[in-house]
Amino acid sequence: MAICMFVLVASALCGSACSKNTGQEKKDSTIVIVPVPPQVSFICNQQVEKTDYQIFKMCNDRTRVGDINVYYDEQSGQFNLYFLKNIWNDDVNKRHPWYAFTTTDFTSYTETGELLSCSANHCEQDFAIGSGSVIKDNGLFYAFYTGFNPNTDCSNIRKEGIMLATSASATSGFIKNTSFTTLYAPKGQGYDEYDNFRDPYVFKGEASSLYYMLLAARKNINGTWRGVIAYYTSTDLKNWDFKDVFYDGGNTNFFMMETPQLIKLGNTWYLVFSDPDSKYTYYRKASSLSGPWVNPADADRFDGKGIYAAKISKDNNGNAYILGWNYNTVDNTDAGAWMWGGNLVVHKISQKANNDLIVSAPESIRNYFSKKDIPLVKTTQTGTVTATSSNSFDLNGNGGIANIVFNPVSSNRYIINATVNYKSSSKDFGFMIGNCDATENFYSIRFVPFLNTLRFDTEKRSLLNYTTIARTSVPIALSANNDYKVTIIVENSMVVVYVNDVVALTCRIYKAIGTNWGIFADDSETNFYNISVKTP
Ligand SMILES: *[C@@H]1O[C@H](CO)[C@@H](O)[C@H](O)[C@H]1NC(C)=O
Ligand SMILES: *[C@@H]1O[C@H](CO)[C@@H](O)[C@H](O)[C@H]1NC(C)=O
Ligand SMILES: *[C@@H]1O[C@H](CO)[C@@H](O)[C@H](O)[C@H]1NC(C)=O
Ligand SMILES: *[C@@H]1O[C@H](CO)[C@@H](O)[C@H](O)[C@H]1NC(C)=O
Ligand SMILES: *[C@@H]1O[C@H](CO)[C@@H](O)[C@H](O)[C@H]1NC(C)=O
Repeated sequence: MAICMFVLVASALCGSACSKNTGQEKKDSTIVIVPVPPQVSFICNQQVEKTDYQIFKMCNDRTRVGDINVYYDEQSGQFNLYFLKNIWNDDVNKRHPWYAFTTTDFTSYTETGELLSCSANHCEQDFAIGSGSVIKDNGLFYAFYTGFNPNTDCSNIRKEGIMLATSASATSGFIKNTSFTTLYAPKGQGYDEYDNFRDPYVFKGEASSLYYMLLAARKNINGTWRGVIAYYTSTDLKNWDFKDVFYDGGNTNFFMMETPQLIKLGNTWYLVFSDPDSKYTYYRKASSLSGPWVNPADADRFDGKGIYAAKISKDNNGNAYILGWNYNTVDNTDAGAWMWGGNLVVHKISQKANNDLIVSAPESIRNYFSKKDIPLVKTTQTGTVTATSSNSFDLNGNGGIANIVFNPVSSNRYIINATVNYKSSSKDFGFMIGNCDATENFYSIRFVPFLNTLRFDTEKRSLLNYTTIARTSVPIALSANNDYKVTIIVENSMVVVYVNDVVALTCRIYKAIGTNWGIFADDSETNFYNISVKTP
């Protein structure tokens, strides 16, 4: 897929854009002409990647995390978040071993030791380890995982197979069961028999003692290769009967539907999977375990590329969360290409009346960030700006741009919230991040009403057009004269935006801390109400 690469041009801080700054300031409906500030300095440096993540957790030793699998302990209220540690051929040849974080609140985490190690033998099936899932039965924890071996000079193994390890504890002592018969793609049924058979998700069916195992596979159906979710059933977690295709993608031919999961919320079953091409986590819904699987009424995702291989988990209090990882970038810069593995991301997940899924910030995270108020200090403003209170502004950017740039927030962690409401918009409006100047060189988290999209772009303003590929984006129905409640949570280079407790946009932004930021409306008239900035 096309990764949007670009070059940061160190342009003059004040280009032709500055001439647009007439310094017009509207106060109590009287236009006061004030002189353009003689010299304004903007701070727009990219941060050096930090490792002290409290919320968007990564490993204490700076290693990134991949595919999350959750086991929620109902007795202790603890989430055990298994993940693939993003080490590959380090000095002891580790290749994605399993570790876990434990948490009860998503604001403090404990990291376990290694739980599943890869084999030192060149020709063992689990030479490397892939995703899987953990289920408890009769006091024993069963970890079903992918054994991955890319070595082509071995006999008796295939590239991917499903294996088992068990332990009496959820967070230590897993022992690989060498008597368990590795599950491989069946022969002679149209499956890719050598590769692409991974990510087992095991769950107990409703009102039956049958266990199900979903997995990601590829199959030739009616002459066309498709990514499919295949499944097995079992009565004892040890002997598994292959049952063929569980879901074939419907109208979409996915290359793979990775890390599939099935979970029931209320009366609805949800099938969640991730697409390695688009990097989106998608879902389907059904009123019964046997389908039919239908697309949601709205979009079939609630975030962009920032939450991959995500799984849903329920707690004891009737809440549900979706957990995945946000991508990392090459060399930890904003220009760097997308890279596998990153930081843990957690959204609260809820259902609309029509059973579509919506996401919001977990309350504990919102509260964690909302302690100290940081006053808004204006660096510059451009165009017709009317302050309706100390933290509410009407940006009348009809026929041009209206914006306010604020001074940097001097904290590695902060939350911005505001209510945004537009009267009209033929272009876009939203938030500026990392302003190197007032009107041209900044990143944007922008609402584009005519595309019904919320997107993150890094291109300079004059280079943005309707063919620009967003770094990440999410569909959202936008209409004039509606309130959109925006929450932006920042920790180091992790930036998660929530709108109306419906959609999220998880981004990686190295310019997110210690830089100028602001609000803008371009060919739009937009009110920003009650902007607040808080830190822990
Ligand atoms: C290991 O797998 C074998 C074969 O399926 C089974 O008989 C045995 O009970 C398993 N051991 C554990 C600890 O699950
Ligand atoms: C394959 O063909 C059969 C028989 O025509 C049809 O029922 C089925 O829907 C087709 N499957 C796909 C995925 O196209
Ligand atoms: C912004 O945060 C404050 C306090 O944290 C809260 O009272 C307010 O409701 C929030 N506003 C929005 C739009 O989320
Ligand atoms: C959009 O911008 C890019 C980069 O500036 C340019 O190459 C492309 O021609 C533009 N497309 C349109 C439709 O204006
Ligand atoms: C802004 O805050 C004020 C005071 O708390 C409140 O009355 C008003 O409804 C808020 N406006 C919006 C649009 O949320």
